[in-house]
Amino acid sequence: MDLTDGYISSFEPELDINLKEIEKYGIDNGVPIIRLSSRSVLRFLIKSRKPGRILEIGTAIGFSACYMANYSEPGTRIKTIEKMPERAKIAAENIKKTNNSDIISIYEGDACEIMEKMCEEGEKFDFVFMDAAKAQYGNYLKYIRKLLVSDGILLTDNILQEGSVAQSKFSVARRDRTIHQRMREFLDEMMRSDEFNSMIVPVGDGMLISTINR
Ligand SMILES: C[S@@+](CC[C@H](N)C(=O)[O-])C[C@H]1O[C@@H](n2cnc3c(N)ncnc32)[C@H](O)[C@@H]1O
Repeated sequence: MDLTDGYISSFEPELDINLKEIEKYGIDNGVPIIRLSSRSVLRFLIKSRKPGRILEIGTAIGFSACYMANYSEPGTRIKTIEKMPERAKIAAENIKKTNNSDIISIYEGDACEIMEKMCEEGEKFDFVFMDAAKAQYGNYLKYIRKLLVSDGILLTDNILQEGSVAQSKFSVARRDRTIHQRMREFLDEMMRSDEFNSMIVPVGDGMLISTINR
C-alpha cells in the first residue's frame, strides 16, 4: 500500500466483528476482497445513492456483499454472482452469520450465463458492482446495458491493474498481455463512449464510476 492509499485507508470506519473475521479469512487464505482504500468509494455510493436493487459480479466469500448490506437502506436487495462453488458455499455461511440472508442472494455460476437469464426475466438494478474476471469486463457490458436503470451506477474495480494498464504492452510480462489489452480496450470503450459517462478514481487498484446516458 502506498502512502496516499494508507492515508485514505486511515479514515475507514472499524469493521464489525463478523466482517473482520471474513476479512481475516480472505487474507489468510488468499481470497481477494475489496481493498481498504477502495471501500470508501463503495460506501459513499451506497450511502449517498441508496440503491434498492444491487447486483454484484464476483462474490468471493461475501465480504463486499455484507459490507454493502451494512450501509444499505432497509428493504434493499443484493444479488451476487460467484462461479467457484467452494467460495459460494463460504459466502452463504458468511451471509447467514451476518444475518443478511433476507438481503443477499447468491447466484452460483458463470456471470454471463446468469446475467443473460436476468436480462430475459427483465430484471433491473440501480447499482452494479463489477468485481469478477478482469478480462471479461468488456463482455459483461452487453448485459449491464440492459440490467442497469437509466440513472443507475456501475462501479468497476481493479481497472488500473497495479498501474500496469498505463504501461506500454511491451513492458508488461508476456503472460499478462491479454488482460492488459482487454483492460485497455474496456477503458477506451468506457471513457470515449457517448453511451456511458465515466470517471476513473485512482484509489486502491483503481475504480471506474459510470452512468448510462439515455
Ligand atoms: C476479486 S474477487 C471478488 C471479491 C468480492 N467482491 C469482495 O470484495 O469481497 C472476484 C471473484 O469473481 C469470481 N469470478 C471470476 N470470474 C467469474 C465469472 N465468470 N462468473 C462469476 N464469478 C466469477 C472469482 O471466482 C472471484 O471469487
